[in-house]
Amino acid sequence: MSVFWRIFRLMIFLVVTIKVANAACSNGTCKFLDECSSDADCGTGLYCFSCLTISRCVRSSATNQFKLLNNSLPFNKYAFLTTHNSFAIEGEPSHTGVPRLTFNNQEDNVTQQLNNGVRALMLDTYDFEGDVWLCHSFKGECHDFTAFEPATDTLREIEAFLSANPSEIVTVILEDYVKSPNGLTKVFTDAGLMKYWFPVSNMPKNGADWPLVSQMVANNQRLLVFTSIRSKEQSEGIAYQWNYMVENQYGDGGMKEGDCFNRGESSPLNDTSKSLVLVNYFRSVPLKPLACVQNSGSLIDMLQTCHTAAANRWANFVAVDYYKRSEGGGTFQAVDTSNGELLCGCNDVHSCLPGSACGTRSR
Ligand SMILES: *[C@@H]1O[C@H](CO)[C@@H](O)[C@H](O)[C@H]1NC(C)=O
Ligand SMILES: *[C@@H]1O[C@H](CO)[C@@H](O)[C@H](O)[C@H]1NC(C)=O
Ligand SMILES: *[C@@H]1O[C@H](CO)[C@@H](O)[C@H](O)[C@H]1NC(C)=O
Ligand SMILES: *[C@@H]1O[C@H](CO)[C@@H](O)[C@H](O)[C@H]1NC(C)=O
Repeated sequence: MSVFWRIFRLMIFLVVTIKVANAACSNGTCKFLDECSSDADCGTGLYCFSCLTISRCVRSSATNQFKLLNNSLPFNKYAFLTTHNSFAIEGEPSHTGVPRLTFNNQEDNVTQQLNNGVRALMLDTYDFEGDVWLCHSFKGECHDFTAFEPATDTLREIEAFLSANPSEIVTVILEDYVKSPNGLTKVFTDAGLMKYWFPVSNMPKNGADWPLVSQMVANNQRLLVFTSIRSKEQSEGIAYQWNYMVENQYGDGGMKEGDCFNRGESSPLNDTSKSLVLVNYFRSVPLKPLACVQNSGSLIDMLQTCHTAAANRWANFVAVDYYKRSEGGGTFQAVDTSNGELLCGCNDVHSCLPGSACGTRSR
């Protein structure tokens, strides 16, 4: 009986404590890192999330660097939040009638990702069912149990976003297993995306700056597509990724503290003839609780390590799993750091504003 009583008192204590904690703020008044019990408690740009134990308001969206500052610099002077396997979304219903047996890497759908400020999507494209599908598969073949959805469905979400947001630029990075001739061209055409296509002929080689973002917007060339198949640059006008970008090792090999080296297909990171830098930071096997921790402090450390390895260049693309999971600023803060360093040499893009401490110093 007395044990029961003690547990009962403990429960009352916990309930009261939680209630008191929550009473401090609610209904949109909770600020960054305040305790919360639902998303509605948190202010704009935040949501209620429990990384380890207590739920707190953490960031849910990226800073729009073009709106905060301007879009008058070359494309390669900006950083973009990138989702790894953007299509491998938990809860995506089976489209093949067979339950899926493969890993998920994200929780939000692509429309939500884009609305929250994700600007680059990593998609795995396969020939499947006489069409092109997004699959999380192996040995270059898609199966009923590794298939997510027809590529056109996701590409249409991108089209809707670009159409509704005429100043935004989206980059698509394909792990490409499509062998059917013009298979990709067909799905990008069907999705209505060709009108936004940024032509390969305008992509700089030999390390030159990219066109200005303002020019890309004015020309409506707001979709950048890169493939992992070299020959498609010639055959379909789809840029071969590693002609333009250096990229560090993905998976566990890319998460060793203090070590940043290129993946096999990429030139060494210090090859400055490629003007764009992509940093991967996700485990080989995606685990949600770990994603929360790795998206927090150690991601920014890796950006710093890769900056040094890439001949003092900050990442343009920061690729992660479960992009919203963090103990606070998470991936959004990491991209703010990269943007700040790229744009004004400050470690936060907000410090680039005229009058802020770092901004004043660097001007
Ligand atoms: C929550 O906040 C909104 C806007 O500030 C207000 O209209 C609404 O009445 C509030 N709801 C409650 C339950 O306090
Ligand atoms: C994405 O998710 C949102 C929120 O759940 C939903 O309203 C929307 O219909 C979804 N869009 C697609 C294309 O799945
Ligand atoms: C680039 O990095 C490699 C190691 O990955 C190093 O051997 C090489 O000297 C570096 N090149 C330059 C130009 O710094
Ligand atoms: C745009 O922002 C960058 C970074 O803060 C700054 O260096 C540049 O002068 C700004 N350009 C214009 C036209 O305001």
